[in-house]
Amino acid sequence: MISFHNVTKKYGLHTVLDEVSFEIQPSELVILNGSSGAGKSTVVAMLIGAEKPNRGTVEVDEMVVNNMDANTLQLYRRRVGVVYQDYKLLPKKTVFENVAFAMEVCEEPQELIHEQVPLVLEKVGLLQYQDQFPQHLSGGERQRLAIARALVHNPRLLIADEPTGNLDKVNAQGILDLFSKLHSEGATVLLTTHDPLVRDILPGRVLTIDGGKVY
Ligand SMILES: Nc1ncnc2c1ncn2[C@@H]1O[C@H](COP(=O)(O)OP(=O)(O)O)[C@@H](O)[C@H]1O
Ligand SMILES: [Mg+2]
Repeated sequence: MISFHNVTKKYGLHTVLDEVSFEIQPSELVILNGSSGAGKSTVVAMLIGAEKPNRGTVEVDEMVVNNMDANTLQLYRRRVGVVYQDYKLLPKKTVFENVAFAMEVCEEPQELIHEQVPLVLEKVGLLQYQDQFPQHLSGGERQRLAIARALVHNPRLLIADEPTGNLDKVNAQGILDLFSKLHSEGATVLLTTHDPLVRDILPGRVLTIDGGKVY
């Protein structure tokens, strides 16, 4: 599903990834564990084609992400569900509209939007909040909304960058349970964290990122 092959990534003189290779199989759940600044978000950025490696290849489903032209990249990104560290919610839109917007930008028909949005809100436990604005949601609920938005195109690959980073223990547990459920429904899940306790809560393969290496 995911394959990093001899990937080197530098920002200026700073080498963040040094000849890194790893693979993630379809339907795996993988926790990418590493301290702040280790390069977790850089891995995510390369997986969605927002950053390119200096050397090596990043492949998803046997497509080389770092070689995609803008059109291909746009289509590819619809197939990957990404949950960003800072949620990226739209404050002036309701819960429903935040999820609907992700479909509208892809020019999905309104009938499909009105069918699909309640389904994903139900899945993350937010259907009763569909008319609320993000500012009225708790941290855990905001994270659920970000996850709902990532689910809107039924992605087979879900990538979440520190989804529990801003949450207390109880809310973090709820979010990890949700990823566990999505994984059991068949999704490939890659979740990053700086918190070594996540691996105790969430059953999955642990990859560690440290000193420019992933192992
Ligand atoms: N756009 C950028 N330009 C320059 N340096 C960057 C950029 N993005 C990240 N870095 C640096 O690369 C390193 C890894 O960052 P990042 O991938 O965000 O780590 P993590 O997500 O594990 O905290 C850090 O030292 C960070 O300062
Ligand atoms: Mg990060």
